[in-house]
Amino acid sequence: MKNVTGAGVVVTGAGSGIGAALARRFAAEGARVVVNDINAAAAAEVAAGGDAAVVPGDAASEPGVARLVSVATEVLGGIDLYCANAGVAQGGGQDAAEADWETSWQVNVMAHVRAARLLTGPWLERGSGHLICTVSAAGLLTMLGSAPYSVTKHAALAFAEWMAATYGHRGIVVQAVCPQGVRTPLLGASGAVGELILGGSAISPEAVIDGIADGRFLILPHPEVARMYAGRAADPDRWLHGMNKLQRRVEEIG
Ligand SMILES: NC(=O)c1ccc[n+]([C@@H]2O[C@H](COP(=O)([O-])OP(=O)(O)OC[C@H]3O[C@@H](n4cnc5c(N)ncnc54)[C@H](O)[C@@H]3O)[C@@H](O)[C@H]2O)c1
Repeated sequence: MKNVTGAGVVVTGAGSGIGAALARRFAAEGARVVVNDINAAAAAEVAAGGDAAVVPGDAASEPGVARLVSVATEVLGGIDLYCANAGVAQGGGQDAAEADWETSWQVNVMAHVRAARLLTGPWLERGSGHLICTVSAAGLLTMLGSAPYSVTKHAALAFAEWMAATYGHRGIVVQAVCPQGVRTPLLGASGAVGELILGGSAISPEAVIDGIADGRFLILPHPEVARMYAGRAADPDRWLHGMNKLQRRVEEIG
């Protein structure tokens, strides 16, 4: 979205990290912003700082998304841009708990589907709307040490692609933001492994946003991700060999 002045914007998971940076940036650029987070106190703090409205609550469950979209529509008089940003990063592999797989699926994927379900009708009717999904480079590549995160971020990217391919000619713009490491509490919680894999090239939450304005579908704040993504497609075995080499380094430190 090139000009957000006066636009009605919702950002989920905006009490912290990338979502807080998105909310602050859009508010500073003249948008009317609704700050959502499941952590009500964090959402209120960000909203107060950016002169925005706050609608705390779960942005993933069916009733949670319905409430958020309905209250935000009332507050803003219509939603022009919805940032499906809230996400969780559960660690573990195939043995990760059922509950962790389920939460990852609900927050990282179904939150986007449920928001799109409610927003698409009004957007098609008026011929415009904008969905920004915070995915991850893990949705294009993988995240060692976290199968639930890798799998659900691939699904989130697949859904964003599907939306763009289906509604591009009817005025709906979809963008998928796919950073590697970003200095937020989520990266901090990934511990020594996250630091080894992502720490060296980690960027600030504010730096993630800079690429959004050019309107491209795939926003890659780390340009090296484009090269790795191309390498994965061109020669999957070579790419997997490289990833397994990194896994062995992770096991040495872990
Ligand atoms: N930090 C990174 O290195 C990184 C890299 C790539 C992608 N991402 C993605 O960026 C997004 C934002 O993460 P972040 O790094 O800013 O993390 P963060 O932990 O700083 O912020 C995430 C926020 O989402 C909120 N949240 C979680 N579940 C929610 C729910 N059901 N409803 C509403 N709010 C909820 C949390 O309370 C938290 O405030 C996530 O989708 C994450 O997967 C992060």
